[in-house]
Amino acid sequence: MRRYSRITGTGSYLPPRRLTNADLVAELARDGIETSDEWIVERTGIRARHFAAPDVTASDLGLEAARNALQAAGLQAQDIDLIIVATSTPDMVFPSVACILQHKLGANGCPAFDVQAVCSGFVYALAVADSMIQTGAANRALVIGAEVFSRILDFKDRTTCVLFGDGAGAVVLEASETPGILSSDLHADGKHVGILCVPGNVSGGQVLGDPVLKMDGQAVFKLAVGVLEKAAHAALAKAGMTEADVDWLIPHQANIRIMQGTARKLKLSMDKVVVTVDQHGNTSAASIPLALDHAVRSGQVKKGETLLLEGVGGGFTWGAVLLKL
Ligand code: ACO
Repeated sequence: MRRYSRITGTGSYLPPRRLTNADLVAELARDGIETSDEWIVERTGIRARHFAAPDVTASDLGLEAARNALQAAGLQAQDIDLIIVATSTPDMVFPSVACILQHKLGANGCPAFDVQAVCSGFVYALAVADSMIQTGAANRALVIGAEVFSRILDFKDRTTCVLFGDGAGAVVLEASETPGILSSDLHADGKHVGILCVPGNVSGGQVLGDPVLKMDGQAVFKLAVGVLEKAAHAALAKAGMTEADVDWLIPHQANIRIMQGTARKLKLSMDKVVVTVDQHGNTSAASIPLALDHAVRSGQVKKGETLLLEGVGGGFTWGAVLLKL
């Protein structure tokens, strides 16, 4: 009998410090950086974001999200036999956030590793976990997206620092006789490295290059809408489905205009799109599981519905996972 994987629990966590656009505008103004609530809302749809305290790391946020997902699935840490964390803002150069989180969770022994695909990271991690469950390499996986993007922002660059926030989301993915995950479609094109990157690195005991986020916003925008449409169609075709079968699109929460553009291309009404970017900002690899968990817990998204998850981000990377909840 074919093995599938199925989401059996979702969880998320946001650090308590919440900044509305007005709060951020006032903070930036103290350093002579001018922006406004109107500009941010009109161009991005973002109204608020959460920032982690200086001593809080991606593994701390991911741990809380993981505990919430385990509780929702009715499982203990010891039941988990695979941990994958999607992040671009790890606690340290190594070991991975997944190993640090595994120890904090008390799930020692199972394989644990990070996936680095920036804002597509969660979709990549979910597809990898699904493959490992299908082959029998794992039975019960924790798949987590956790980010402290506030650490890599240049608060003197108003074109980027207003866009991002911190947070984490997680799912428990279990082996199942019925799907579950129906299909996935992943891609990358490294020729676009320069349009979205943090070009610093550690060498000889020093940080070389600029360790803050650089982005060509318009180039990212144009690429994002096109590739999200293609990945959606590819994932649907693999499952023998069409847009009409999708109950909810849960896209990476970067920018409301990218989401609107994608929905338009897929002929989906915005009523079928889960939107949390207004409250969370762009939390990179955490944005999709955060949006999923909020939609599940609010009752917006229900068991048995068909969800299309879509990520896009630095690399350039992009991908989609189609699933039945
Ligand atoms: N506040 C006020 N004015 C600003 C701000 C700000 N925070 N940032 C830029 N401006 C000004 C610019 O200086 C420029 O002024 P000028 O016309 O006098 O030169 C003007 O606003 C327009 O700037 P543009 O960069 O052309 O603005 P655009 O309409 O392209 O919007 C944005 C910028 C929101 C970044 C847009 O390009 C976009 O949505 N890109 C997608 C990128 C994205 O969402 N990235 C997220 C990370 S990537 C990912 O997750 C996939």
